[in-house]
Amino acid sequence: MERVGETVVEAAALQRRVAELGAEVSRDYAGRDLFMMGVLKGAVFFVADLMRNIEVPCEVDFMAVSSYGSMTDSSGVVRIQKDLDSSIEGKDVLIVEDIVDSGLTLNYLLRNLRARSPRSLEVCALLVKPGRRKIELPIRYVGFEIPNRFVVGYGLDLDQRFRNLSYVAALDAESGSGDGLHAVGDATRGGPGRNAA
Ligand code: IMP
Ligand code: MG
Repeated sequence: MERVGETVVEAAALQRRVAELGAEVSRDYAGRDLFMMGVLKGAVFFVADLMRNIEVPCEVDFMAVSSYGSMTDSSGVVRIQKDLDSSIEGKDVLIVEDIVDSGLTLNYLLRNLRARSPRSLEVCALLVKPGRRKIELPIRYVGFEIPNRFVVGYGLDLDQRFRNLSYVAALDAESGSGDGLHAVGDATRGGPGRNAA
């Protein structure tokens, strides 16, 4: 298959890191049962690979949320489109996210799930863009810190495309200013709208 964009994380590096994260989570949750909550749709690929590297008993469920804002900037106003099938009260819950950008979506999820009285609540994010964070959040497990660029692959999409790439690639021009990032969004979305995480 033809390479898309500029590779930011190679497939082999992703698999290695996911195995490491799985081992770390397994150690930390030894003797407990784990409830993994994946955020649709982007985290599906990561959850599936991570879960195969977890050695404690675990179950998985998903939530789908959408945030209002432009494609490249979420507003923090989040709506639940698919909720969990069961209660998490008293459970050890791990939120699994594909990417944390501003952190607004995750902030909403943390507050929402905390209110359901889990025994513990932690976050595992494959990718974080530290420069973009608007809110300080406790992210226990981080796969990779990446530069402030718009990336696709391994679950991440641009208008629902490119989720199937086995690597993570940047589509914008490396400008550092964020101009390239907005050019991508504006060209395909034509301004503010709703985007599914
Ligand atoms: P946040 O609320 O700003 O942290 O953004 C959360 C959501 O925006 C993520 O769950 C992704 O769905 C999406 N997102 C943020 N950055 C990227 C990116 O570089 N590529 C693809 N999706 C992204
Ligand atoms: Mg998305």
